[in-house]
Amino acid sequence: MTSLTVALSKGKLLPGTEALFRRCGLPFPDGDSRRLVVAAGELRFLFVKDADVPTYVEYGVADCGVAGRDVLLESGSDVLEPLDLGFGRCRLALAAPARAGFSPDRVSTARVATKYPRVTTGYFLGRGLAVEVVKLAGSVEIAPGLGLADCIVDVVETGRTLLENGLEVIETVAESSARLIVNRASYHARHPELQALLAQLRGATA
Ligand code: PRP
Repeated sequence: MTSLTVALSKGKLLPGTEALFRRCGLPFPDGDSRRLVVAAGELRFLFVKDADVPTYVEYGVADCGVAGRDVLLESGSDVLEPLDLGFGRCRLALAAPARAGFSPDRVSTARVATKYPRVTTGYFLGRGLAVEVVKLAGSVEIAPGLGLADCIVDVVETGRTLLENGLEVIETVAESSARLIVNRASYHARHPELQALLAQLRGATA
């Protein structure tokens, strides 16, 4: 039987993922190697960009993976999501210049900057508002102050980036945390091994 393949993000969720795997006594690659496909014990790990984790799992290249719910919502990938791993907690929020009285229902033609165009479009359409969404790759918080957008939808963790860039939360769009995701076919084909992995992770997150 081949090893179970686990897709992990090289980004912010990696320290929490490594800590969780080690706490569970699961294998995890050692050292600071630049190799992106690494075998450890009975597992094989892929280290990829956070937005690509759902893709590797959906297409079955990886049997399972760890991804933020924010990334999952944006990807729209068809994967199973059996476990909230409890770390990486943050929220996706609509934010606008502080004390400027911004209200999403009072602006019919707002321009919204975000790394999450799919989530943002869905959120505003759900309120019957067809806004213009501008996709950015990062540093989204500077967009309103520079006149690129009226407001943003972005990740808020401590709230410090918003504060230091003169923005305030208007509404929460979605809560997020790290999730274990599983490929649909693997869930059946590799059922015993995935159940064992799930049980170990569940024990450490309870
Ligand atoms: C994320 C997010 C915010 C910041 C929120 O940025 O996009 O900018 O973290 O954290 P805070 O509420 O604790 O200040 P990231 O570091 O991923 O960089 P990016 O803006 O380049 O995407």
